[in-house]
Amino acid sequence: MTEKTSARILVLNGPNLNLLGTREPETYGTNSLGDIETMVRSHGANLGLAVDFRQTNQEGTLVEWLQEGGREFAGIILNAAAYTHTSVAIHDAIAAIKTPVVEVHLSNIYKREEYRHHSFVSDVAAGVICGFGPAGYVLAIDALAGMLRDQS
Ligand code: DQA
Repeated sequence: MTEKTSARILVLNGPNLNLLGTREPETYGTNSLGDIETMVRSHGANLGLAVDFRQTNQEGTLVEWLQEGGREFAGIILNAAAYTHTSVAIHDAIAAIKTPVVEVHLSNIYKREEYRHHSFVSDVAAGVICGFGPAGYVLAIDALAGMLRDQS
């Protein structure tokens, strides 16, 4: 149990997710990113997981944080937002690390424009959760907690 108590989870959010709450609420809902952070932190704490929650609009910063996640964290939750559909650099960063990455999207990207149907993240992710709004982040915490339990 002490091992699990010290497990650290890195939650990474990509471009425009800082605008959640006011950004296209019909697609992304009315919760702010701060609201989602509060939810994820408290769910993580219930499971003995320490959550480090971050957002950036920069692709290179996401790459650097993924590399850091590979060195220092037990699991990563990634909503790469628009970079999901464009970034070979993010694909390669995930492929380069051993830490499991759970891909999350608030919206169901498969119900939306065709250019959102391809993800450069999915084939290197441990799993994908999309279409459940903020609950997707909580489900991702559960998924990582299960994986960490299975490993120990
Ligand atoms: C998103 C889906 C992406 O297609 C979009 O570019 C985003 C958010 C989501 O959480 O639903 O910015 O990742």
